[in-house]
Amino acid sequence: MSTPEADLDPERLKQFAKRVFGTLGGAMTAAMIHLGDRMGLYRALEDGEAVDAAVLAGRTGLSERWLREWLFQQGAAEILEARGDDRFALSAEGRAVLADESHVAFGAGFFDTLPQQMTIVEKLPEAFSTGIGLDYDALGEQGARGIERGLAPWFRNLLVPLVLPRLGGVCERLEAGTCVADVGCGGGVALLEMARAFPASDFHGYEISEHALLRAEANRSDAGVANVSFHHALREPLPDDGRFGFITTFDCLHDMTDPASVMQAIRAAIADDGTWLIADIKAYDSFEENVERNPMAAMMYGTSILTCMSSALSEPGGLGLGTLGFSEGLALRMTAEAGFRHFEALDFHHPVNAFYRVRP
Ligand SMILES: C[S@@+](CC[C@H](N)C(=O)[O-])C[C@H]1O[C@@H](n2cnc3c(N)ncnc32)[C@H](O)[C@@H]1O
Repeated sequence: MSTPEADLDPERLKQFAKRVFGTLGGAMTAAMIHLGDRMGLYRALEDGEAVDAAVLAGRTGLSERWLREWLFQQGAAEILEARGDDRFALSAEGRAVLADESHVAFGAGFFDTLPQQMTIVEKLPEAFSTGIGLDYDALGEQGARGIERGLAPWFRNLLVPLVLPRLGGVCERLEAGTCVADVGCGGGVALLEMARAFPASDFHGYEISEHALLRAEANRSDAGVANVSFHHALREPLPDDGRFGFITTFDCLHDMTDPASVMQAIRAAIADDGTWLIADIKAYDSFEENVERNPMAAMMYGTSILTCMSSALSEPGGLGLGTLGFSEGLALRMTAEAGFRHFEALDFHHPVNAFYRVRP
């Protein structure tokens, strides 16, 4: 059906086309950030000096002509600062977000899985037709590594010093020695951080992704800690004997096909005086509220289709909550239905996550 010209306001048409092509510009810039991270270009610019392609080629051993085009793209997108004479520099903020993997604001890890996510796009027309999504292993080994790199800076910098002390007695219990479970543990970064800080406790990670479990084992061996073990959650489920003094779930309940069953398993596994820390994406009960309160809502609904909701629908009958599907109200209701009577929201000024302290 062709659009009658009379229906079109030329100015609105121009603005709409601009918005649409702006998103394509964002996609291209994201791909260029992926390349910059993967090839060590941001790290090569870490000193903040303004350099041209010849200097960057000298620092990296890469082709000058390709680097010039990349520098121009990054300058045009205002990721690098253009300083004249085809020279570009990484600002101090750019260094924190794109080059310094130890900084809490480091975000280049989130661009790691971009090629895998784009491969998933090829498979989604079928998912839209059957209703069945893909689990995390569909992103492959690189996908597991990327998710780990994206979330690790926060765990490494803030989990032990900032969050655990706010959980009323949890640190004392961990110091004295207790059993801890991290359900949906991914590559195990959070668990390993806690295990290093509390050698008297025993730490257990539960996962269903084979790739994440391989990453977790590799990370454990690199960390050289003895008080951590990882389990495939389907082959070796959480024990139901109330042995755990502390349980955590980080950014995973909204990804699960059956979070209600997992919550019931957590209730059976936790001691009557134990604590469960939930960190999950800050979400609201309506589309309008999500869009109004979350400047990243469009990106997150996209992530949901590519990853989170897809995972949560990866089995027939999956609940399919998705990235922005687990609001505080739903968390309160579902934890109560699983047998938890105490629920408290905690604010750590996290840009993306909400935190709940939940107890039987
Ligand atoms: C976004 S990742 C978060 C991983 C980890 N918590 C972190 O913060 O790095 C979500 C994880 O939940 C896992 N998952 C999904 N359903 C699960 C289930 N029923 N039991 C255990 N893990 C599950 C996925 O395999 C995936 O690794």
